[in-house]
Amino acid sequence: MSEKTLLNTRKIGIYGGAFNPPHLAHVLCARSAVKSLGLDKLIVVPSGISPHKPEPKGAASGADRLEMCKLAFGDIVGAEVSEIEVANTAERSYTADTLRTIMERERYPGEAVQLFLICGTDMFVTLPDWYDAKFLFKNTVIAHCARPGTPDGGKAPAFPPGTEAVTVAMPQIAVSSSQLRELLPQGGGFGLAPDTVYGYIVKNRLYGVDPNLAWLRRKAYEFYKPKRILHAAGCEEEALRLSERWFSCSGTARDSDNYEQFCREAQTAAMLHDATKKLTLDEQLELVEKYGISADEDELQAANLLHGKTAAAIARTEFGVNERVADAIAFHTTSRSDMNLLEKVIYLADYIEPSRAPFYGLEKLRRLAYTDLDGAVYFSLELTAADLTFRGIKIHKSTADAIHFYSPCGQTLKN
Ligand SMILES: [Fe+2]
Ligand SMILES: [Fe+2]
Repeated sequence: MSEKTLLNTRKIGIYGGAFNPPHLAHVLCARSAVKSLGLDKLIVVPSGISPHKPEPKGAASGADRLEMCKLAFGDIVGAEVSEIEVANTAERSYTADTLRTIMERERYPGEAVQLFLICGTDMFVTLPDWYDAKFLFKNTVIAHCARPGTPDGGKAPAFPPGTEAVTVAMPQIAVSSSQLRELLPQGGGFGLAPDTVYGYIVKNRLYGVDPNLAWLRRKAYEFYKPKRILHAAGCEEEALRLSERWFSCSGTARDSDNYEQFCREAQTAAMLHDATKKLTLDEQLELVEKYGISADEDELQAANLLHGKTAAAIARTEFGVNERVADAIAFHTTSRSDMNLLEKVIYLADYIEPSRAPFYGLEKLRRLAYTDLDGAVYFSLELTAADLTFRGIKIHKSTADAIHFYSPCGQTLKN
């Protein structure tokens, strides 16, 4: 065994890559390397400006890749994510330079350090061509995490004499970052990256992701009391039916010409619309503060009025929904004048979904919702106003505006 593998030395693994985005095979490789090589420390280095390949189209920024790496590798004992390359935005990053810096930083008196350069097959086979490859071969043990499609861990390229290379055995999983980038805009890929990484991608809408609705539903329901999940599910089901009924009707005010996209937005709004319903007024007010929500005096005194706006803020900031979806959530309680189709769909779906306990006017409202959309909105507003008046609760201005707008009189004046 050479001086590079002396006992009683601190073993440090360096795992570099674009991690664009990090996926399950990356994490398995890191875990396997730590275990099989007995690493004391693993330094994950998301690449800076790569000398090897151009940045792929739609790539995430260095800052986002750094954050995703922290989420992906953060719970591996001894792992840390280094910004050494990402922070260098001025010039290309070379692994040999990165290693020199790390060797400098990790040097402690009276202690030997053994470095392992952990790499996947694509990097492993091209290593001899890298900048200052001699330095890499001389100062590290090359640890190759073999990927599928590379029998026997990939045929080792011609390394200089004396180079030490080991194969890290790891569970095989067929996934690559480029495959993930292709799947994400199609609602796929959520099982191929760590859940936290997928959440970050959705939250920040990276790679043109179209969030997987099953994943989103699971996350949305975590916000609900168990007994309200049935309501959220019913609302989603009803919203889909209303979308199918009204989307293609001429004269319907809508923001999108894409029916599938409209349905996905309706489902998203429905599953998140009551995400903050279980919170107390004080908890809602904390969210108002946290997200800088604009709310009037009446809303600030009533959790029931506020929950639409706070749920919209959660949907926007935690799940990256667009403004159409956020507005449909924000106004599902009070409604407002001149609502677009998505807002009407969510407002009515919330009112008439199948699990709603019977109330006076429900059956008429359900009929109207599929025969006269604005008539249904007006009738539901009348029901709300009557209920509030009966209970001695002030009608919110937004609701009053909507009543005026959707009343047959208002419609006549408008036309
Ligand atoms: Fe609600
Ligand atoms: Fe609701």
